[in-house]
Amino acid sequence: MSAQTTWADAMTYRHRADPYPFFAQLRTTPVVQVAQDLYVVTGYREVLALAHDPRISSDIRRSPLAAHVAEDTDSPVGLEDLRAHSGREPSIIVSDPPDHDRARRQVLRHFGPPHSPEVIPGMEPHILALANKLLDALEARNATTFDVVEDYAYPIPVSVICAILGVPLADEPTFHTWIHDFLSGVDLGPDATTEEGKARTEKSRAAGTALRSYLAELIGQYLHQPADGLLSKLVNDTDGPDGPMSPRQAVSNAQLLLVAGHDSTVNTIANCVMTLLRNPGSFELLQHHPELIPRAIEEVQRLQSAVQFFPSRSATDDIEIADTVIPKGAAVHLIYSAANRDPARFADPDHFDPQRPDNEHLGWGSGIHTCIGGPLARLEVNLTLETFLHRVRAPRLAEDPPPYRRSHIFRGPRHLMIDIDGIATREVQ
Ligand code: HEM
Repeated sequence: MSAQTTWADAMTYRHRADPYPFFAQLRTTPVVQVAQDLYVVTGYREVLALAHDPRISSDIRRSPLAAHVAEDTDSPVGLEDLRAHSGREPSIIVSDPPDHDRARRQVLRHFGPPHSPEVIPGMEPHILALANKLLDALEARNATTFDVVEDYAYPIPVSVICAILGVPLADEPTFHTWIHDFLSGVDLGPDATTEEGKARTEKSRAAGTALRSYLAELIGQYLHQPADGLLSKLVNDTDGPDGPMSPRQAVSNAQLLLVAGHDSTVNTIANCVMTLLRNPGSFELLQHHPELIPRAIEEVQRLQSAVQFFPSRSATDDIEIADTVIPKGAAVHLIYSAANRDPARFADPDHFDPQRPDNEHLGWGSGIHTCIGGPLARLEVNLTLETFLHRVRAPRLAEDPPPYRRSHIFRGPRHLMIDIDGIATREVQ
């Protein structure tokens, strides 16, 4: 099978539940050309090297895929969408230094130490209270089955990121649909060329525009009337070394923070429950040894990487690597999820080992674009998983594999139905 066909197979929705055999096939050539102007990197060593290589740009405006796509309406339109969605002022994930570094500093001032050390740990009581409240509701209706995604995993990160950013939670039903449609239409695989795929792309464009308008209005309000929350602080910051962020740039970053700030955390919570229930004995192991939860979460992230890759990168020079030359100007996908199962780096890589030593996986990225939300996501997944382990009695997967969401970038179950013996009553503290 050609690398081109294998890549298309890995990206097609039909294989969303298990793209890994295709990634393993691709990895026989760790850096491989899969289309004109597109190279895919699947080896751990190679992904790590290129994630730290200044000759790799993340600026979506430089990507040849984006340019081709804009000219050719019959080709998959995912990248054009990513470019459009980032607006004329790119967000930090699709920009390069020095703009990237300045914007990242501006955001981090209001998100973590040293300037705002209380933001993330301050969410702990909120996360715990919400996790328990959701389980209380299931207990009250004597649930013997429930959807881990809708009934438990989704409400927690979305509520947390709204509180941090200053986005009204009351607007969640509206932006939930926009974000769902937006992400479903970002498709770089063969499905994008079908009639349904084109319709999804159209819907995604409209949803992205609606989401950006909504956030622009909210930021406009904060400019006139400053309030608590990161978005308001971002555009009203007069104390910081970089000054306030421009409203246009703030809209792009608000969109990134709102979407990235909950979507992959939801997928990770669902992936954790799914992986524990797929591997007999591991649920009980963590119940009796909650101190192993953080390591188990990292192992799930390695095995089921909620962000499989991010498709904005391109080479700014010829780069020789793994007996291949990536030519200047080519698009380069660093496939974190494939690197995370590289047998040259991880022993028995398809096996779930919650106590795996030396687990330096790439599920949070690596290099200057490493996830800024890792500490928050880890706190959320830790607490929700711990509460789940504590109160959900004898969970079993009702359907395996579960139905998957469309995205091959932000990959996770759409629903995760489980059967249970019941929910234990909350202990009064
Ligand atoms: C389990 C949940 C999460 C996973 C698996 C995840 C994964 C990732 C990965 C792999 C990247 C690197 C993308 C690249 O290489 O281009 C990234 C970047 C990013 N993530 Fe996350 N993320 C998660 C949660 C969050 C949260 C909660 C937030 C925000 C509050 C967040 C905000 C960001 C931002 C802003 C970037 C871009 C950083 C930059 O370009 O400098 N993420 N994330």
